[in-house]
Amino acid sequence: MGHSLNEVPVSMNAARPAARPPGPPAPFEVTVDPATFEVLPRWSAAYGPLLGVRSPHNSRQTYVLFEPELVRHVLVTHHRNYAKGRGFERVKMLLGNGLIVSDGPLWRRRRRMLQPAFQRPSVERLSAVMRAVTHRYLQRWRAAAEEARALDITRETSAFALDVILESIFGQDLAAWRDEAGHTPFHILVDETVRDLRLAVQFRALRKRVIELAHWRRKRDVQRMDFLGHYLAARDAETGAPLDDEALADEVMTLIVAGHETTGVTLNWIWHLLAWHPEAAAQLQAEVDTLPTQAPPRFADLPRLPCARRVMDEALRLYPPVWLFTRRAVAEDHLGGFRVPVGTEIAIPVYTLHRHPDHWQAPEVFDPDRFLPERTRARHRYAYLPFSMGARRCTGEVFAQTETLIHLGWVARHLTFEPLDPEVVPLEPGVNLRPARPIRLLPHLRRQDTD
Ligand code: HEM
Repeated sequence: MGHSLNEVPVSMNAARPAARPPGPPAPFEVTVDPATFEVLPRWSAAYGPLLGVRSPHNSRQTYVLFEPELVRHVLVTHHRNYAKGRGFERVKMLLGNGLIVSDGPLWRRRRRMLQPAFQRPSVERLSAVMRAVTHRYLQRWRAAAEEARALDITRETSAFALDVILESIFGQDLAAWRDEAGHTPFHILVDETVRDLRLAVQFRALRKRVIELAHWRRKRDVQRMDFLGHYLAARDAETGAPLDDEALADEVMTLIVAGHETTGVTLNWIWHLLAWHPEAAAQLQAEVDTLPTQAPPRFADLPRLPCARRVMDEALRLYPPVWLFTRRAVAEDHLGGFRVPVGTEIAIPVYTLHRHPDHWQAPEVFDPDRFLPERTRARHRYAYLPFSMGARRCTGEVFAQTETLIHLGWVARHLTFEPLDPEVVPLEPGVNLRPARPIRLLPHLRRQDTD
């Protein structure tokens, strides 16, 4: 094609359906695995903005989108032509018909029904949990600093994010589930780093606990403002019906899966990056030092942390936890000059888009200032999508950002981290993008703590 995709009018796309987008000759399964992760940047350079790959399983194609305008088409302007892709079948066993997996009218009704739990007033209330858990972890990490003990920051941030999401869902009822070591049955999500079938079976058993607790609360008419409280109170806008037991368990398990590792691994990357970029850490410290000193930042303080927000945004650019996600065409469409037959899989390679040289200067460099407002305005809006875009955008975005900023604001006030492992970390691109090996950091008390 002689012109860029942006210049091709949609009507012309429709009138000139070419056979299939360029792509590698051999069939290949585009999925959340290391082979896909490795090959995508090369394909992007070799085939341009839209490439087609034959599936090894059937006669269908997967289209991979390396151009923000095409991403907008699939996720926003023509999203009704697409449902969740094959990749989501893998998580269906865990999450049933929960928000991440469901589609069509069921998804639309549920999203509307559950939305209030994710809105600002609810997140603001839940920020009390985030502040309390942050302070607990700071105490632990401070003790490690005093003893010059290294932290496995990958495990610590995973445990932190699990505590935050569990306490946000179950509130004070979580205490009854803790064993002598302080662990809840959900701790397997931190301890079991192998994401295999055994974990899936154990995880399903936890649904029973959720349903039992829901029965207990219903019977006693316990009203709480945690996620479970919101979900128990939610009513279908048309029928007025509440969630039944299975739906409730699906949605609660979805919250845990969606809210735990994503945020945990993001914090892990943030501390790794700050340990290797002391100048960025110093800027962040100067900012957090302007906040009140007695307790973790409050929800209302967060607009005063623009530098922390840029660090978070940049970490999510370099290491988007959801590095690839998929859709499937459920109605015929046209995209970038090509026909999209029903059944075509669409892959949105977030990691590759976030490091695409057409949209990012020196994409491999950690530079939080690229999220200064004027530089953000100069970029295509869809070149950056850690939380996806459009109707199915992450519902937990404000929750995750609030948790991250409170944690960052309070921990950076008290600690700095020294790297102990190499800067370049081997990656494990599974459902989430994680470090292949745990990252160790040595915490140091900042001067004001040692005084
Ligand atoms: C840094 C943290 C997070 C990242 C990067 C992230 C990213 C994403 C992405 C990319 C999607 C869309 C996937 C797709 O459409 O295929 C998504 C969906 C979702 N996320 Fe998050 N997420 C994060 C944290 C959270 C948290 C903390 C919660 C819950 C409190 C949450 C709940 C959800 C739910 C329920 C969906 C499904 C929404 C729907 O389809 O209607 N996420 N997330």
